[in-house]
Amino acid sequence: MKQIDSATLNQWYVIQSCTDLTQTRPRHTRLLGSDILAERLDDGGLSVWLLSATGEQMRQLPVRECYDYVWTTMGAPEGEVFSMPEFYEEGRRMVVCGIATVQTSPGRIIENFLDMSHFPFVHIDVLGAEPETEVNNYKVNLRKDVNELWATECGFYQPKAMASATEGIEVDYQYRVANPFAAILYKTCPGRDDAMDLVGILPQPLDETNCDIHYFMLVFDDVNSDQELIQFQQGILMQDRIILENQRPRELPLERGAEITIRADAASIQYRRWIKDMGIGFGTL
Ligand SMILES: [Fe+2]
Repeated sequence: MKQIDSATLNQWYVIQSCTDLTQTRPRHTRLLGSDILAERLDDGGLSVWLLSATGEQMRQLPVRECYDYVWTTMGAPEGEVFSMPEFYEEGRRMVVCGIATVQTSPGRIIENFLDMSHFPFVHIDVLGAEPETEVNNYKVNLRKDVNELWATECGFYQPKAMASATEGIEVDYQYRVANPFAAILYKTCPGRDDAMDLVGILPQPLDETNCDIHYFMLVFDDVNSDQELIQFQQGILMQDRIILENQRPRELPLERGAEITIRADAASIQYRRWIKDMGIGFGTL
């Protein structure tokens, strides 16, 4: 296996939700190709261990509990887990949706998440519908102060934008890629003009071409139960999974011109450039 670059090692990764990591349910999983074990301690704290090939505990990894998730890292991140102030807003509901295992690289997952052009063809009559297939011009910018990639002024007609939507609406979107492998979507909240709903995806790279995607919603919705919200988001992700697992190569090509692009791919082009400049080699070509 190729050497893992330091930019990939030095990120925070979600490995489980806080509520699912209990004393009786440790999580034995993989991160960046290595076996790890996360355990809940008697005092409520956590320990995460890097394991050897034969299962011995080799080294303790840093751990954080943040936004109802357990985060760890294989390296030494420069800062803490990215900020998400919406998590603390009065009245919002954090809905941890679970884990979807998808056989592809984390870069492919983020790129698919940023892509609006597939909505009418993959999420038929939910996030898009023919003949409204055109992706309007939107803006992409790299916010150097926080090292985040944003796509703004995205708009799309959606038959059923969220679980709480009762009719088709013109939806405003903003995408935030908070670190190379964590993305949040901000979208029009049906029934509220002053707020946006959040949908986040946090791929845990098991290895270069396999991920456990942790995903959540952070919404104003007093109609749907958690279960209904989870079902809605799960349905969308299952549709994406089919597309993602059929993409070749599974790694994300970072060389310019490696894949044919159109104007709607502006976010993806910037994303590839950004992670390339950062030195991310893991899961890329
Ligand atoms: Fe999708």
